[in-house]
Amino acid sequence: MHPALNVIIKAARRASQIINRSSSELDHLKITTKRQSDFVTEVDKAAEAAIIEVLREAYPDYGILAEESGESAGQGAGSDYQWIIDPLDGTTNYIHGFPQYAISIALAYKGQVQQALVYDTLRNEMFTASKGGGAFLNERRIRVSKCLKLEDSLIGTGFPYRSFEHVNAYLGMLKELMQKTAGIRRPGAASLDLAYIACGRLDGFWEFGLSPWDIAGGALLISEAGGLISDLAGNESYLETGNVIAGTPKIFAQLLQIADSYRTSNLKA
Ligand code: IPD
Ligand code: CA
Ligand code: CA
Repeated sequence: MHPALNVIIKAARRASQIINRSSSELDHLKITTKRQSDFVTEVDKAAEAAIIEVLREAYPDYGILAEESGESAGQGAGSDYQWIIDPLDGTTNYIHGFPQYAISIALAYKGQVQQALVYDTLRNEMFTASKGGGAFLNERRIRVSKCLKLEDSLIGTGFPYRSFEHVNAYLGMLKELMQKTAGIRRPGAASLDLAYIACGRLDGFWEFGLSPWDIAGGALLISEAGGLISDLAGNESYLETGNVIAGTPKIFAQLLQIADSYRTSNLKA
């Protein structure tokens, strides 16, 4: 295993203790609203601090992009390496005791994700991937499903909940896909949705307006598991635009075609 992935796992285990401990005392949780429908708890912050402490100790030079504390450089001259961290993906679920949330940690080199982890702390399901080395769920190698046809597919998504600028394009896609697929799910933690494609539980996914920390870890899981992920134009800029289409190769292609027909001039790729 790549040494950086070992450090990521150590950091995630440390954070998982904080997340799991507080999950049984949700009544005492201090919740702050960042923006409309955007919540942060002391658990998000403590988990992120624990992750950063472990990563910084092992790799003091690497830069960091983390949801709660933002972007920071490492020690010394600027590094081409950057950790991309979502300490608790699915905070709204977590606050409600709805059991679907995860830690997501990725390591990018010059903007390309090399190492990835998505960890469902509640079920103890740890998804990991190294570029060129395959994707794993705990110790087991995982692959995307063999789904070929939209009519057989189970598709994950995330509803717009903060910005409603592109809600009509979103609802157009939802309406069409409701009729053309076997089912649509909105579980509420984008990193896990992507991990579920990697292990074949979902056959595709789309969401608009995500942040890089929601996507980075899951994106490598998908490509290492034989799936495809892109922005709305089929290109690689999804970490920048936050708009994502993903799936098994065949389902991805069909989703991309549908997404394209709902693109408007102000909806970025
Ligand atoms: C959110 C979750 C959710 C997605 C949102 C994200 P957070 O992350 O991934 O599934 O629909 O767009 O912001 O805020 O819980 O870390
Ligand atoms: Ca998130
Ligand atoms: Ca988060």
